[in-house]
Amino acid sequence: MVRSRITAAIALGANVGVPERTFKRALSLLERDGDIQILRRSRWHGTGAVGGPAEQPDYTNGAVLVETTIATAALLERLHGIEAHLGRDRAREEPRGPRVLDLDLLYALDEEGAAITEGGPELRLPHPRMEERPFVLGPLKEIAADQRLPRSGRTVTEQLAFLEEGGGLARLDSPAEARAWCDAARAAGASIGFVPTMGALHEGHLELVRRAAMENDLACVSVFVNPLQFNDATDLEKYPRDFAGDAALLAQVGCAMVFTGSLEAFFPGELVEGELPAASHVAPGPSAAGLEGDFRPGHFDGVATIVDRLFDVVEPNRAYFGAKDFQQCLVVQHVAARRGGQPEIVRCPTVREAAGVAMSSRNALLDGASRSRAEVLSRALFATKAAWAAGERDAAALSRLLREGVSMPGIEVEYAEVRDPEVWTANAPEGVMERAVGLVAVNVGGVRLIDNMEFDEGTR
Ligand code: PAJ
Repeated sequence: MVRSRITAAIALGANVGVPERTFKRALSLLERDGDIQILRRSRWHGTGAVGGPAEQPDYTNGAVLVETTIATAALLERLHGIEAHLGRDRAREEPRGPRVLDLDLLYALDEEGAAITEGGPELRLPHPRMEERPFVLGPLKEIAADQRLPRSGRTVTEQLAFLEEGGGLARLDSPAEARAWCDAARAAGASIGFVPTMGALHEGHLELVRRAAMENDLACVSVFVNPLQFNDATDLEKYPRDFAGDAALLAQVGCAMVFTGSLEAFFPGELVEGELPAASHVAPGPSAAGLEGDFRPGHFDGVATIVDRLFDVVEPNRAYFGAKDFQQCLVVQHVAARRGGQPEIVRCPTVREAAGVAMSSRNALLDGASRSRAEVLSRALFATKAAWAAGERDAAALSRLLREGVSMPGIEVEYAEVRDPEVWTANAPEGVMERAVGLVAVNVGGVRLIDNMEFDEGTR
């Protein structure tokens, strides 16, 4: 059979051992069987580690352009084989943690130079994050400067320059400036996708922003650690803050504007002795009752109040929230309904770390022992979901399983219960359930963590 030839770009990265030597061995393994030829290779670039655990060594990155007759899925398999051969153990590593060798397939072109988009279950082509990463684009520029990138439509050279100039991100320090920016964008006919956050951004947040950018003309983000929703002063004080770091991440994921502000700036002339009077608060609706509502009195009142004000500022077409905060999604739906159904609320799946832990800004506050203890939340949810899949429908039995799953030394359980995701009830339902979501809240090592899972859904 005559197989068609493809050209593919592969990124190399490593920060353990001697990367230059590992890369050399990887490339000779790549060419060993004679069915892959290396056309061009970049120099090796040194870059600081991006994300992941603190204080890991700097990375070395490079890129190669290859020509081959093997299919993309088989090429990926070959890359994984080489990684394993040179000492990488995917099953044991931390996300964005130290790497002996990372080989990523960036894109593949057919004989006419058109991008191949199908890959396989494990492979998304072109690589969905390639355009966000200067450490990938830098080496790539040396071997494929004029290659056009599918998301932005820019060439590699143009996209790198765009990121280096701040990714076209407007950084605004007040709600008043944000309102003017959004008014102008809307007047120019742009639709706005909005992601409200409290900062210390991680992949969970960034997924919401990528989706907002994809589904709207412009994505905008607010970063505001809202004091109205903290019922515990120490929690508010300890909450991680890093606006410069947040803006740098947002610049990479297609965000057009980020803004922040103070309580006074969000509620000008409304504060009395630094506090927002009850008359200015927005009621969070019936889904604020029970679970989070019981353990964090006033929390959803604070959420509803700030989200309503944020919607006044941005007037978005769509607003994106994470299923990670299940009950918050219901509260926000109520806020939008009160506003005549504007904006449309889009609930996005929970992003988890490799070990299953739901990503959270608060995870940064966990010490090593607490971090591994935190894995029980998702483990208990997955186990209860498995019982659901095996036919268990009794509310009390499901809740019991969930509670047993999270109960262990070092974990203080606040709640572990099920609810009907479509008919919120303050108290735990009884008897046979048609739909169920498991919800848990615990304290571990002085940090409060929550998680939930809908039992009928494949991904959450
Ligand atoms: P914050 O905790 O910063 O979360 C901002 C948004 O990101 C929320 O919609 C949250 O559900 C989502 N998110 C957090 N972790 C996630 C994960 N692992 N996967 C998917 N989405 C995730 O929630 C708030 O801020 C505040 O209450 C706010 C809505 C901004 C009001 O102050």
